[in-house]
Amino acid sequence: MLKYIYFVISLSMLFWTFGCQAKSYPLDHEQLSQEERIVIRFSHVVGEETPKGLAARKFAELMHERTDGFVEVQVFPNGYLYKDGEEIDALLKGDLQMIAPATSKVTEFVPEWMVMDLPFAFETLDQVHEYLYGPVGQELMNKLTDDGMLALGVWDNGFKQITNNRNPVIDPEDVSGLRFRIMPSDVIDRQFRLLGAIPEVYAFNEVFQLLENNEIDAQENTLSNISSKNIHTLQQYLTISNHGYLGYVILVNYDFWQQLPEDIRVIFQETLAEVTEWEMDLAQELNQKKREELTECQCIEIHEWTEKEREQWEEALKPVYSYYIDRFGAKYIEHLPVFKNDF
Ligand code: LMR
Repeated sequence: MLKYIYFVISLSMLFWTFGCQAKSYPLDHEQLSQEERIVIRFSHVVGEETPKGLAARKFAELMHERTDGFVEVQVFPNGYLYKDGEEIDALLKGDLQMIAPATSKVTEFVPEWMVMDLPFAFETLDQVHEYLYGPVGQELMNKLTDDGMLALGVWDNGFKQITNNRNPVIDPEDVSGLRFRIMPSDVIDRQFRLLGAIPEVYAFNEVFQLLENNEIDAQENTLSNISSKNIHTLQQYLTISNHGYLGYVILVNYDFWQQLPEDIRVIFQETLAEVTEWEMDLAQELNQKKREELTECQCIEIHEWTEKEREQWEEALKPVYSYYIDRFGAKYIEHLPVFKNDF
């Protein structure tokens, strides 16, 4: 976590050096019209009671409090304003100022980010943080700047689990022929194709309907996302697989950021750092709580992989690493905790 703080500090130093001139904001904010305030439209695609939903709200409340209402963060949850596939474009056009898409969703712009989708790349969230706030992670974040976005950090959701409505997923062959909803990432696509499953990219808020209409059989997500969209009510089998990470890159529109007064940027970054720490704990708690609820409700059959079962999957999915290396070299993966020279 300390590394995160360093990351934030180094960013703010960068902008103190190169950013626009400091400009004090008016003191009597309550008298200002909406046009005179700084409005940050923050859109996301999940429910309000999820780690991202709650963190977005907390960030908005703290920014309001700390700038006496001069900065108004308007949070639009559930993809009401922009769906998956639309929110990054809206950010780049300046229709939104802030978003927090899953890392898999920025791979269209910076495909190297697919490293975060590699199966079994991380076993713990601490490993994820160490990687993302280390030199390689920071390089990945910097790469987004070329596309007009600025990455200010990462929020966790947690590890993905597998649900489906055909059979328990224990061995790799068990997913063969299943139609999986996936996020847009070639690595995730490859992961399922290797096992004979049929991956299809859909927006998050379409998943419930797709399952209800039997247009897909299966999906992978964290327990807080599964539960918040009632996916468990439509699926028979849940595998606690922890096979891949799901987290969010906090992105702001680059030009918007450059134009922010310096004192506001500092408040923004300090607040974001604080909310990030809070969110990371919350995400773990919520996923744990959802696991207990799903166990208690007996509404879905749960299987947790044994060590031996997990090893079979690791073996079966090794070629995904070669696929990544063929496209981007070993640079981004050699710092992964999972990295072994035999990939
Ligand atoms: C998904 O599409 O499954 C996730 O990205 C949703 C989210 O933002 O957590």
